[in-house]
Amino acid sequence: MNTKTHLHLVEKSISPQKTFKNVINRVTKPENEIKPYYSSENSIIFNMDCLEVLSRIGENSLDMIFADPPYMLSNNGFTCQNGRMVNVNKGKWDESKGFEEDTKFHDTWIAACKKALKPEGTIWISGTYHSIYQCGYLLQKNGFHILNDISWFKPNAAPNLSCRFFTASHETLLWARKDKKAKHTFNYDEMKNGLFPEDKMKKENTQMRSVWSIPTPKDGEKTFGKHPTQKPLDLLVRIIKASTNSGGIIFDPFNGGGTTGVATALVGNRYYIGAEIDANYCELTVKRFLQIEKETVVHENIG
Ligand SMILES: C[S@@+](CC[C@H](N)C(=O)[O-])C[C@H]1O[C@@H](n2cnc3c(N)ncnc32)[C@H](O)[C@@H]1O
Repeated sequence: MNTKTHLHLVEKSISPQKTFKNVINRVTKPENEIKPYYSSENSIIFNMDCLEVLSRIGENSLDMIFADPPYMLSNNGFTCQNGRMVNVNKGKWDESKGFEEDTKFHDTWIAACKKALKPEGTIWISGTYHSIYQCGYLLQKNGFHILNDISWFKPNAAPNLSCRFFTASHETLLWARKDKKAKHTFNYDEMKNGLFPEDKMKKENTQMRSVWSIPTPKDGEKTFGKHPTQKPLDLLVRIIKASTNSGGIIFDPFNGGGTTGVATALVGNRYYIGAEIDANYCELTVKRFLQIEKETVVHENIG
């Protein structure tokens, strides 16, 4: 039996909660002098650079990574929001430092993610043309095996103001496995037979295709404020249901407003680790987590 298989069997024999705690203990061991911004039984957020967190997670530890990296599109352009012309700038974190520097940045975090994933683990990367082609190339350069590219169609995308281009109404999601030979998780039946009322393109009891029609976040997802590139919960819930199993550990290196963590809690029986450099967005995430906890308690009391 090789070391990888042996480690896998050892891990399977201990409880998922214990496996999660082991990963967290590696990050927060006293000599690291790292304190989480927030932690609960199933979730933890670090107000830190994702590379710092990834370097401490340890190799072959994570089941799935969802990464929504900076788009590098904050270039003082304009877009339309609720019928008004607004600046496209999302924040300092989203400014391009030029092609070479941006490529180096993506290369570094993608390589770090590869180390931290289990061999059968998968990574999702979302983005627009500003970054997604670089990320696709770098996934391949780092030895990932691409499984799918999903086109996330936004039926309610904002109109184009200049009327000189097509209206941008989709993002691309790349899905890739760490090890070409390993067997990844794909919950085929759940994708085929599950209910996706938000998606006007998905027909009941037919295979899930690679074009997903999902509206941008609902008002209820912005109760505590919003992140400028917040993803809809329906998108993350689908990704988590498709590519993880009960007990899985999910990591988001660019936590933002915490959509991946909130979706993990909604799906249930999985563990979440998030890294975010901006404390305001960590705070937004905590508020969203606490709301979910409150709702769960209400449901349990009623039930
Ligand atoms: C595209 S947004 C993610 C939005 C998120 N998916 C959501 O639904 O709210 C990227 C986030 O990554 C954060 N960020 C940028 N560089 C980072 C780094 N090196 N480590 C951790 N977070 C980073 C930014 O502050 C920003 O909040």
